[in-house]
Amino acid sequence: MEKIRLAIVGVGNCASSLIQGIEYYRTHEGAEKLGLMHYDLGGYQPGDMEVVAAIDVDKRKVGKPLREAIFALPNCTLVISPNLSNSKPIVSMGHVLDGVSDHMRNYPADQTFVVGDEKPCDVEKVLRDSGAEILLNYLPVGSEEAARFYAGCCLNAGVSLINCMPVFIVSDPQWGRKFAQRNIPVIGDDVKAQLGATILHRALTQLFVDRGVRIDRTYQLNTGGNTDFLNMLNQSRLQSKKISKTEAVQSILDSPLDERCIHIGPSDYVPWQKDNKVCFLRIEGRGFAGVPLNLELRLSVEDSPNSAGVTIDAIRCCKLARERKIGGPLTSVSAYAMKHPPEQIPDAEGRQRVEEFIRGQRER
Ligand SMILES: NC(=O)c1ccc[n+]([C@@H]2O[C@H](COP(=O)([O-])OP(=O)(O)OC[C@H]3O[C@@H](n4cnc5c(N)ncnc54)[C@H](O)[C@@H]3O)[C@@H](O)[C@H]2O)c1
Repeated sequence: MEKIRLAIVGVGNCASSLIQGIEYYRTHEGAEKLGLMHYDLGGYQPGDMEVVAAIDVDKRKVGKPLREAIFALPNCTLVISPNLSNSKPIVSMGHVLDGVSDHMRNYPADQTFVVGDEKPCDVEKVLRDSGAEILLNYLPVGSEEAARFYAGCCLNAGVSLINCMPVFIVSDPQWGRKFAQRNIPVIGDDVKAQLGATILHRALTQLFVDRGVRIDRTYQLNTGGNTDFLNMLNQSRLQSKKISKTEAVQSILDSPLDERCIHIGPSDYVPWQKDNKVCFLRIEGRGFAGVPLNLELRLSVEDSPNSAGVTIDAIRCCKLARERKIGGPLTSVSAYAMKHPPEQIPDAEGRQRVEEFIRGQRER
């Protein structure tokens, strides 16, 4: 079977985990039973993906072969596959635009981005010359201008976009229409990790609703020590992330909570945590005869492999859509795999719709 040709913008921790994970599944006997929603999805296995182009702006990554760049600082995620046989492309210099927040300059180099001074590449040419079919957008939160710039390059080059971060593109009707008009399938926005804070918060909220317990208030506080968390110390970059994470939970409720009764967001940067993310979740409600109850939960995960566990399916669904000549936002897989999709669907139904899509029984 021919390989799915990927391009990546933002060679950070999420990209690193995805690439290492592809190698892991390609080389580990028996691994097909571990950690995946689908080993075979529509005839494609994880090893059937190949990264053919990569773009970043950090001088420790630009100009390096991708298999080295994914281990360069400030990346700090768990090493899964130290020796990569694939991933040969050289990382090209991207367009910085608003990708790097000013406050990041105040931290030691090993914790933060260090922007290179090369001339930015011609992104559309990189995409065309490499034969990339799908671009994964892994830019930092708040890169509104940069995310739209790379999305525009995808439109012009006929490349699909999987928008893993919270700038609203696939869920924006105008952008969605542009991709539909050119018959390019897209998935987004903002990955809902495999077993992360959002899917857990949604599942618990659904449980309260199904069991007739009225939720009065809730919070989800998250800490981590990677550059994603460092970047998110800048509150002015957080608007879309907060909307994305909050709407993902509010959408489960029949009537949304008053905004003063729901607090969800990245909460602090703790350098020694590195790529470990800890979520503290609390839900307060009232059950039978209005009697109060509350739930407290602490979740600890390695942040970046958690996103790869979902992206690995989104990529293959996107490839199926390309083969089937279906363009525009893929609503079922976006709802299942993303926090801020064009259409919010409860996760159990989203999952069912994705299975139907994979079998070819649902168009999008
Ligand atoms: N880890 C998860 O589970 C998860 C879930 C949902 C969404 N996300 C989002 O995915 C995105 C990527 O996360 P990450 O942990 O890999 O981040 P990261 O900070 O490790 O990587 C970001 C990369 O982008 C590069 N970059 C910055 N500006 C750029 C530009 N203009 N052009 C090209 N490259 C640029 C940086 O040099 C860095 O290599 C973030 O927005 C994050 O919020 C992550």
